[in-house]
Amino acid sequence: MTGTAGGADDPRMAMDPMPRFPPGFLWGVSTSAHQIEGAAELRERSVWDAFAERPGRVRDGSTAAVACDHYHRHREDVALLAGLGVDAYRFSVSWPRVNAPGGLDFYDRLTDELCAAGVRPVPTLFHWDLPLGLDWRERDTAERFAAYTAVVADRLGDRVRTWITLNEPAEHTLLGHALGVHAPGERLLFDALPVAHHQLLAHGLAVRALRAAGAPDIGIADSHAPVWPASDDPADRAAADLYDALLNRMFADPLLLGRYPEGIGELMPESAGADLEVIAEPLDFYGVNYYAPTRVGAPSGAPGGFGGVPLPAELPFSVREIEGRPVTDFGWPVVPEGLTELLTGLRDRYGERLPPVLITENGCSYPGLDDQDRIAYLDAHVRAVHDALAAGVDVRGYFVWSLLDNFEWAEGYARRFGLVHVDFTTLERTPKASYHWYRELLRAGR
Ligand code: NOJ
Repeated sequence: MTGTAGGADDPRMAMDPMPRFPPGFLWGVSTSAHQIEGAAELRERSVWDAFAERPGRVRDGSTAAVACDHYHRHREDVALLAGLGVDAYRFSVSWPRVNAPGGLDFYDRLTDELCAAGVRPVPTLFHWDLPLGLDWRERDTAERFAAYTAVVADRLGDRVRTWITLNEPAEHTLLGHALGVHAPGERLLFDALPVAHHQLLAHGLAVRALRAAGAPDIGIADSHAPVWPASDDPADRAAADLYDALLNRMFADPLLLGRYPEGIGELMPESAGADLEVIAEPLDFYGVNYYAPTRVGAPSGAPGGFGGVPLPAELPFSVREIEGRPVTDFGWPVVPEGLTELLTGLRDRYGERLPPVLITENGCSYPGLDDQDRIAYLDAHVRAVHDALAAGVDVRGYFVWSLLDNFEWAEGYARRFGLVHVDFTTLERTPKASYHWYRELLRAGR
């Protein structure tokens, strides 16, 4: 679009030409049900509804009852996807909506509309909105998840090829059950680890259910961050190693190697050893969500935390600032080469056990319509993916978080990750400069 901020002719966009990506590389955007759909009265309640209604839990006191009202405006949103020219759209299916009469019809219609628009649907089956009354501390929740997966696969499987089981089980465990700053708001610290195990078991059982339904392309979306020790001091290195085990290896090791990292398996439920075979069901791709690296040292009493959340002093590590870097309006450091480091690190650790990788989320929170900071962030991170490809990592796709500004969990509507601005009073959508930039990137790459 000529003359538009962020368009190809914008002098501020005089960046080096983008290197070419392999043919068939999948370009997309991601969202999740609870963060965009609204229409809460047309589904069952989830742990997030109950949590957000508790005073003080969401920064701006908001809930996701209406959110972007995507449930009623999905046609407009599919048109935005088509206008953007993405190959694929990663959304999530709300388990509480599927439990409600007619709920699955919504995803059936959405899938049809995406296919008609030439956009590949990539549903995620769990993105944190657990039906209220279920609890990941219970093993039974994993069995129920597999049964729900089979119902969704039966309905959408004739049109959906690519499936994602879980989104970021690490964050759901740590923020929701260990630190209590996300739903369901439990502060169990290390006693939260069974929640991780039951999600991993749920994943493995869901992979089996999807295979039984004939699904050809199955993966998971795991969050990963390179963990940098605060110094060479052995205490800092040990703290960073433990943090890395909890955030990265506790999920990727059982999935890809069929075992828990040393010292972690002992904290899991007794049945964990026997479940590893299910958890390690082979995957067709491994989804990686990346935002920033983390610098970790021995407990220091200094401020700093996990994604902006202060960590309790009794934990055996502390999160330190990454100095000398620009930060997003969430305060997260902008470190594009961290993504290359992460991808080559996964390849080095898991070798042939690492399936082809999809970057299932990458993005940043900045205000404004003329979002040059977001363009710079995305541009640098796309180049970082290319660097990983050049280093031999088999990356097959990249999804921006997110299509729309949305309900950013405990931050409410204050953090804006969208390529499209949403006015949360009128629900009007306005493409930002970054939307036009991404469209141009995709167009030029073809
Ligand atoms: C990861 C989560 O999957 C997503 O729901 C969230 O909005 C983004 N990170 C940004 O925090």
